[in-house]
Amino acid sequence: MTTFQLYLAPLRGFTDYIYRNTFTRHFDGFDGALAPFIPTVTADRFKPSHFKDILPENNPTLPIVPQIIGNQSADFINLAVRLFDLGYTSVNWNLGCPFPMVAKKHRGSGLLPYPERIDAFLEKTVSSIPNRLSIKTRLGRRTINDIFKLMPIFNRYPLKEIIIHPRTGIQMYVGKTDLDTFERCLAQSVHRIIYNGDITDLKTFQDVFGRFEDIDGWMIGRGAVTNPFLPAIIKAGRDDISHKVEKFKRFYDELFDQYRQVFSGPGHLLNRMKGFWTYFSKSFQNSRKIAKKVHRTQKMHRYMELVDRFFAEEAQWKE
Ligand SMILES: Cc1cc2nc3c(=O)[nH]c(=O)nc-3n(C[C@H](O)[C@H](O)[C@H](O)COP(=O)(O)O)c2cc1C
Repeated sequence: MTTFQLYLAPLRGFTDYIYRNTFTRHFDGFDGALAPFIPTVTADRFKPSHFKDILPENNPTLPIVPQIIGNQSADFINLAVRLFDLGYTSVNWNLGCPFPMVAKKHRGSGLLPYPERIDAFLEKTVSSIPNRLSIKTRLGRRTINDIFKLMPIFNRYPLKEIIIHPRTGIQMYVGKTDLDTFERCLAQSVHRIIYNGDITDLKTFQDVFGRFEDIDGWMIGRGAVTNPFLPAIIKAGRDDISHKVEKFKRFYDELFDQYRQVFSGPGHLLNRMKGFWTYFSKSFQNSRKIAKKVHRTQKMHRYMELVDRFFAEEAQWKE
């Protein structure tokens, strides 16, 4: 196999610095991560807490690239320069977020139907921060036609790379990824392209890798949160990892402990852990049962008993 890099995708509310650090202490395979997005704010509303997730001291091991969401180049540049002052060499522009509240403000995938706005943004931004910008995009907001208007624009600027999640914004996270359109984008781009979307096991990776062998950068989000052994399995090209439940439990215990220290109230902590179990549960046999039980729990002590009992009596890794 050709050598390639694997990156952890940003999942806001999941892959924050606590998750990334705990992950790296327990699992291998990722070469870096894109951090979940930071919104632009006008300079006078800026607070240092904005940066907590990407502060270098909070990210001692896995190299990260910070991501910014916004549509005003002056605010974007202002934030990017602060990130460069922290030592980062590049930043990523989010053109993919599908959520209607974001998109209707013409941010994330909401900007994709406006190629002239994207062109004007890049013109101003790239001239201030040349060679230091990458983009993460979908194929369009409502239609894949958007991306074909954007590719020639992207080609005119010195971008570091483009990460493509081949869905439209209105598809959200469901439906099939569009590999044919991805292939056309790849053929049209002068930039390094990174593939992202629906890699959930070794086979799905090998299928898409087999089709796009020249790609040397791959990004995985939900598949790796569900099965944190996945990046190492992909890198090895085989799965010979034993004692997965025990290893996963050690990771889980530490993750829970870390979040317990940072969240002020039990409600926040419980919500965060419930979010994780919607993914974690899929790696276990009878996944629906544990997912349902966790989801219904309202009290922290009940949640802890439930998860302890699950690991002690029921947990079996789904191979
Ligand atoms: C809960 C959640 C939060 C996300 N947050 C971000 C984000 O902050 N920035 C971003 O570019 N993409 C975000 N994404 C999209 C993922 O990075 C990724 O593109 C998408 O999930 C497809 O890849 P996957 O199938 O490997 O998960 C998010 C996705 C989910 C499900």
